[in-house]
Amino acid sequence: MDLDLNAIRAAARLLETGKLVAMPTETVYGLAADAGNPDAVAAIFAAKGRPSNHPVIVHVARDADLSRWASAVPDEARRLIDAFWPGPLTLILPRAANVPAAVTGGQDSVGLRCPSHPVAQALLKEFRGGQGGIAAPSANRFGRVSPTTAQHVIDEFGAPGAGPLAAVLDGGQSDVGIESTIVDLTRLDTRGPVMLRPGRISAAQVEQVLGRALAAPDDTAAPRVSGSLDAHYAPHTPVALVESAELEDVVARLRAAGRRIALMHWSDAADAPLSAQLPADPDGYAHGLYVSLRALDTQGADLIVVEQPPQDSRWQGVNDRLRRAAFDSAGVLEKLLG
Ligand code: TXA
Ligand code: MG
Repeated sequence: MDLDLNAIRAAARLLETGKLVAMPTETVYGLAADAGNPDAVAAIFAAKGRPSNHPVIVHVARDADLSRWASAVPDEARRLIDAFWPGPLTLILPRAANVPAAVTGGQDSVGLRCPSHPVAQALLKEFRGGQGGIAAPSANRFGRVSPTTAQHVIDEFGAPGAGPLAAVLDGGQSDVGIESTIVDLTRLDTRGPVMLRPGRISAAQVEQVLGRALAAPDDTAAPRVSGSLDAHYAPHTPVALVESAELEDVVARLRAAGRRIALMHWSDAADAPLSAQLPADPDGYAHGLYVSLRALDTQGADLIVVEQPPQDSRWQGVNDRLRRAAFDSAGVLEKLLG
């Protein structure tokens, strides 16, 4: 891909003056602001309609000085950084004293990630001489499906200048397609490393580098992760998750009840007039997931029926997002079949 360096420089200057910019990353598009500027970070929350006590990830260049953001970078973090940065892995570390509370949601930790997308890399290099931090949650309204194209971002927030965004950098469709894996390293002594959000980088890959098992998130002591709320990542159309073996029967019953359904499937067995087929491998499926969900969401269907993918660990990131999109699967089916 050719980099539009003029657009990237212009975006860096806009960020430096406190403006919001949409930034492509390899996972999803981010709604970016200067992480060192509390007013700019507050503008992210206002644009998204996100509660202000939710922390945002700080994106850094590969050779940025992490001590600006984290008060300690344990050996475990170094090992994961060497293995996976730049790439789709976010590390939660104890925060440095001068990190704005707007970034951390008032917590004593900070999320750091070095994205591999060439446009994000170039922007991070250009912004504050490569030593700044770019705060960026996914560029969608709170609770909605993350954007994986520049057009998705414009669909959410309007064109640059017409809404909260000063610029939208177009980096093509995001390669990974689901949000980064998040590993919490702030409680190594008590709980060990904790997987807060699964993604393309699997628990097994992280465990192999660390040489120890990851703990599952716990509800009480865990830092707030908005991506871990139920009803997150949901389209406007209700979503129901249905096992392959039951698909044909459920679809037939919905049709008989006069329901207009959109089908998202991965096996060849299933099909419907209004449908999207995703690849039968987890990386290919993740790449197309949000594009397909967004496309089916505009079809005026009563329901998006999703064929449940395999349940093995390679599908963990995909299954996590689908479970949240279909958070009321049983209730929705009962209502539409009744
Ligand atoms: O792939 C990604 O991570 C994308 C791209 C743009 O980098 N970003 C993203 O941001 O998904 P967001 O804000 O939509 O989700 C980030 C998650 C949130 O659930 C947030 O609560 C969590 O990271 N997070 C950020 N800082 C944290 C912290 N200090 N402790 C616990 N969770 C944190
Ligand atoms: Mg998000």
